[in-house]
Amino acid sequence: MSVPDLTADDTTPELATNAVLVISEEVPKDAKPIKGYDFNQGVDYNRLFASYLTTGCQATNLAKALEIIKKMRRWRLSDEPIKETDKDEWKDLDTRSGVKCKIFLGYTSNLISSGVREAIRYLVQHKMVDVIVTTAGGIEEDFIKCRNKTYLGSFESKGAELRKRGLNRIGNMYVPNNNYRDFEDWIIPIFDKMLKEQQEEGTLWTPSKIIRRLGKEINDESSVYYWAYKNDIPVYCPAITDGSIGDMLYFHSYKSPGLVIDLVQDIRAINNEAVFAPKTGMIILGGGVVKHHICNANLMRNGADFAVYVNTAQEFDGSDAGAKPDEAVSWGKIRIDAESVKVHADATLVFPIIVAQAFAAENS
Ligand SMILES: *[C@@H]1O[C@H](CO)[C@@H](O)[C@H](O)[C@H]1NC(C)=O
Repeated sequence: MSVPDLTADDTTPELATNAVLVISEEVPKDAKPIKGYDFNQGVDYNRLFASYLTTGCQATNLAKALEIIKKMRRWRLSDEPIKETDKDEWKDLDTRSGVKCKIFLGYTSNLISSGVREAIRYLVQHKMVDVIVTTAGGIEEDFIKCRNKTYLGSFESKGAELRKRGLNRIGNMYVPNNNYRDFEDWIIPIFDKMLKEQQEEGTLWTPSKIIRRLGKEINDESSVYYWAYKNDIPVYCPAITDGSIGDMLYFHSYKSPGLVIDLVQDIRAINNEAVFAPKTGMIILGGGVVKHHICNANLMRNGADFAVYVNTAQEFDGSDAGAKPDEAVSWGKIRIDAESVKVHADATLVFPIIVAQAFAAENS
């Protein structure tokens, strides 16, 4: 191979110089330099999570989520000037300092199957959230766990093999099918009592009333919905038939037909939670009905004031699940001047950190 003949020339081509060495604008005075955690300081989790803000990528988004949630929790009506439109009772300064931002928490079923359940239970037990939306699985898996266990499994296990063993897989967790048989033994007599109350006392059941009743019946402090019942925190579940509870209602409709579940009272109740709140914040883990139901309720008040999404969905297919907060701004589900962030991450990794840093630590 011959050596190419490169002639020495001390002028680099001007086109290349101009392209590579473009002159920067002056950096804004408040720009934050990127800087991560220095482990020579020892392991200090508070400082580690504080360093996320200047770490970049999703670490920064998680740090922003923590800041937004702390603001939701600290906000009081007394922080804002009295408005003409304020309710009369809100014009009194003492009352104002006790009026808080209403926090809507939404999460999908897999999170109750996972150990995130214990983090959620902590929030509900200590009245740190005001309104909950979840799916059927998000309800029943909590009650099932009070009676039987969900086990660590593997993402790789084969469906056919698990089916033979009577194990249902949720990611890398297994729920023995017997758990659902036991759930049936527990819930059917409660449905019988509910049907009797409907027929004799004229009770018109709704998903939120059923969840409240089940929370009372389970009478177990490890349950999210026991605490929701105790603390009067409403739990909405418009898709309550889409899971084992639906299977049980199906069986019950043959055994003892007649139980009616009304959705209209619940849509009115959740929308009014938003409409009559002076300020609202949304913390939504995952997508689908839990995300949209909370956003849609907040549309009724011209949008939420704070929004934190944690999910792994993408927006390119136009699904609401993947939509970033700015898409909800276009619909009036989040206010134009709201503070919002989406943390693109698995909530099992992120939510315990959120509860630690923005709830439990703030409370101690
Ligand atoms: C499931 O829970 C029920 C009620 O507590 C109990 O009787 C049953 O033995 C449990 N089953 C298993 C496999 O643990």
